[in-house]
Amino acid sequence: MDKESGLSMEKVIVIDFGGQYNQLVARRVRECNVYCEIYSYKTDIEQIKAMKPKGIILTGGPNSCYEESSPSYSKVLFELGIPVLGLCYGAQLMMHVLGGRVEKAPVREYGKIEVTVESSSALFADVSETTVCWMSHNDYISQAAPSFSICAHTADCPVAAAECVEKKLYAIQFHPEVLHTVEGTKMIYNFVRGICGCMGTWRMDSFVEESVKHIREQVGDGKVLLALSGGVDSSVAAGLLSRAIGKQLTCVFVDHGLLRKDEGDEVEAVFGRDGDFDLNFIRVNAQERYYAKLAGVTEPERKRKIIGEEFIRVFEEEAKKIGTVDFLAQGTIYPDVVESGLGGESAVIKSHHNVGGLPDYVDFKEIIEPLRNLFKDEVRKAGLELGIPEKLVFRQPFPGPGLGIRIIGEITAEKVRIVQDADAIYREEVDRAVAVYAKEHGTMAVWKPDQYFAALTNMRSVGVMGDERTYDYAVALRAVKTVDFMTAECAEIPFAVLQTVMNRIINEVRGVNRVVYDLTSKPPGTIEFE
Ligand code: XMP
Repeated sequence: MDKESGLSMEKVIVIDFGGQYNQLVARRVRECNVYCEIYSYKTDIEQIKAMKPKGIILTGGPNSCYEESSPSYSKVLFELGIPVLGLCYGAQLMMHVLGGRVEKAPVREYGKIEVTVESSSALFADVSETTVCWMSHNDYISQAAPSFSICAHTADCPVAAAECVEKKLYAIQFHPEVLHTVEGTKMIYNFVRGICGCMGTWRMDSFVEESVKHIREQVGDGKVLLALSGGVDSSVAAGLLSRAIGKQLTCVFVDHGLLRKDEGDEVEAVFGRDGDFDLNFIRVNAQERYYAKLAGVTEPERKRKIIGEEFIRVFEEEAKKIGTVDFLAQGTIYPDVVESGLGGESAVIKSHHNVGGLPDYVDFKEIIEPLRNLFKDEVRKAGLELGIPEKLVFRQPFPGPGLGIRIIGEITAEKVRIVQDADAIYREEVDRAVAVYAKEHGTMAVWKPDQYFAALTNMRSVGVMGDERTYDYAVALRAVKTVDFMTAECAEIPFAVLQTVMNRIINEVRGVNRVVYDLTSKPPGTIEFE
C-alpha cells in the first residue's frame, strides 16, 4: 500500500518536464481505469523505484534536451525493466540519453498532422495506418537510439515514434493525450493496459471502499473537523468522511449571508440532522455579523479580505467550542496538489491549503485530505457513489466570497436579496432552455454556458413602470464558455431566453428596472465582477 495516498492499486507514474499537458496525461491514463500520479523530473530515482510503478510516462516540455541546463533524467530510469513511454520532449530526452540524435527540426510541425504508423507495434494496435495526431515541436529526433526501431513517421518527421520492444521503451513525438490526436486514447490504453499489463482496477467504487478503510485506520477513534462550504469538494469530503467515521466527524457550515438563494437550507437538508449522512453538523448563521463588518466597504480587495478573515474567525470560535480535535479535514483535490508541488524547487509534493486559507491556530494534530488524489470529474463520480444529490455534485463553481463579489460596491442585506432573486430566475431559465434544447435536438446546445450567474451593478437609472417613474438598480447577466476558467468567451444564449429572463426579473424582483447582458471575454474582463 502507498503510505501517503493509502491506495494499494497498480500505479503508473507521469514524470513532468514542464509540459502544459501534464495533468491531461494523468487524466487519460485514469480514463483507462489505471491509477496515475504526477511527479517532477527532480524526483529521486529511488523514490520512483519504491513506488513500484507498472509504467512510467515522460511528458513534453518547452526545452531542448541537448542543452546542458535542460531538465533531464538519469539513464538508470530506462534500465529498470519498467515500461517507459516518452511523449514529445520525453521522447526526445529518451533518445538523447540513450544515444540517438535530437536537433533543431528543419521543418517545425505544429497542429494536426497525418502520421503513418506500423500497426503491428503494440503501441499502435487497432490504430489506423494513417491517423491524425497533434504535433508541437521545434526539435526533432533525426536519428533513433541504437536498438530502437521506427514505428511511425510523417512527411517531415522521420521518427514520429520509435520503440525498443525488448527493453519496453517507447517514444512518441506527438501528443496522444490531446483530443486532437484522434486515436490518442487508444495509444495510451495500448501502453498502460497492453504493454504495462495494468488490469484497470481504478474505479470510483473501489476508491470509496479503499479510502473508507484507510481513513478508519488513520483516524482511529480521533475527532475530525471539516469546514463545509457546500461546494463540490468539501461536500464530497464530508460524505466520504461520514461513511468512514460517522459521528467522529463534525462539519462546520458558515452561512455568511452571501450564498445563492436557498443554498444554506439546501446544504443543511443534505448534511443536517434530517439528511442522509451520519455526522455532526453545525450551521453558523453569521449573516448579520458579516453585513455589519461589510457596511460601507466598497473596495473589492477589502471586501474579499473581510469575508475571508471573518470566515476564519467564525470557524475558530466554533472549533474552540468543540475543543481539541485530532484532524482538520480539507477538500484539497489533485490539481491543487500538482499545482502547489510541481512548480517549485521541491520535488516532493507539498500539502496544499485550500483557497481562502484556514486558521493555523485551530487546535489540531494533523491535516487529512481524503480527495487529494482525485481530479474534479473523479470527485464528482465519488460524490454520486456516496449518494450526494446531483444538484450539489454538479454545482457550478462558486467563489469563496460568494455574492460579495457579485454585488458591485457596498454590500447590504437588501442588495443580497435582489441579486439572489435575480440569479435564481436566470439560472432556472437557462437550465430550462438547455434541457428543452437537449430534448428537442438530442444533443447539448453549443451555447450551453460553463458558468452563468447574475450580478448586481452599482448603477441606478431612471425607468418607468406602470405610470410611475422608477429609479432602481441594473442587474448584469453573465454567461461564459470556458475550458479552464483562465480564459473565457461570452456564451451566445439565445435572445428569446434572455428576453424571458429580463421580463421575469423586472416583474418579479423588486428594486430592479434594467437588465443588461455582459459580452466581455476574459481577458480583458474576468468572469466575476470584482
Ligand atoms: P475570475 O473572476 O478570476 O474567475 O475570472 C475565475 C474562476 O474562479 C472563480 N473565482 C473564485 N473561486 N475563490 C474561489 O474559490 C475566489 O475568491 C474566486 N474568485 C473567482 C470564478 O467563479 C471563476 O469560476
